[in-house]
Amino acid sequence: MRYPVICIDGPSGAGKGTVTWRLAQALNYQLLDSGALYRIVGLKAYEAGLVSADASQPIDENALLVLTQSLDISFVPNNDSGRVDIVVNGEAVGEQVRNETVGGYASQIAVFSQVRQALLKLQQDMATRSGLVADGRDMGTVVFPDADVKVFLTASAEARAQRRVAQLLNNHQAADFDAILATIKARDARDENRATAPSKPAADALVIDSSTLDASAVYEQVKAYCQKQGICF
Ligand code: DC
Repeated sequence: MRYPVICIDGPSGAGKGTVTWRLAQALNYQLLDSGALYRIVGLKAYEAGLVSADASQPIDENALLVLTQSLDISFVPNNDSGRVDIVVNGEAVGEQVRNETVGGYASQIAVFSQVRQALLKLQQDMATRSGLVADGRDMGTVVFPDADVKVFLTASAEARAQRRVAQLLNNHQAADFDAILATIKARDARDENRATAPSKPAADALVIDSSTLDASAVYEQVKAYCQKQGICF
């Protein structure tokens, strides 16, 4: 039995998480937050001393691979938070992987093809049990090349930085626009220019620029495109 797969790729802060969650809820599909996988490996690699915060340290690829293969990772949807809880080696990993620092570790370890290979089957297996909405960078290009729907959701770095600032201020946290913009640009550059599975739209993806759109407008566009591609809501 083959289940439908919807891929939502694009850079961080473009709104993938929200649209992915809404689609999964509306369709009763499973949700794959592939970025969380890379974040958890990045955090564990940092804790093991394999990755530095400023990306200056060369990474021991073999040690990183051994560490990646030692992790037993599963996803558990959380209806209260609207997120997916990550369980690693039997332990729930909380919000500590959701910050920009861990995003940076994730981006560093994500350049290694063997690490990506080690995480591939876990991701593909998610499409063997029910319909799936998959959020990432290479869902439509590498992980699910035969997906029913491929969307590449992007936005200018400035718009994404502005959203991040608003989010931090909303949480009563300090926010420095210039610093956030620089971090976003550095991560984009690493994700887009790596040799393996770079972040880019699949040839058959619908590209949506969300710079001037709100979450509902994005969702409606993606939903309409899914319907056009034969997905029934
Ligand atoms: O989507 P995110 O911000 O949670 O992803 C964190 C990092 O993980 C991102 O900068 C690059 C990497 N990543 C990846 O290489 N491939 C994916 N499918 C998802 C994330």
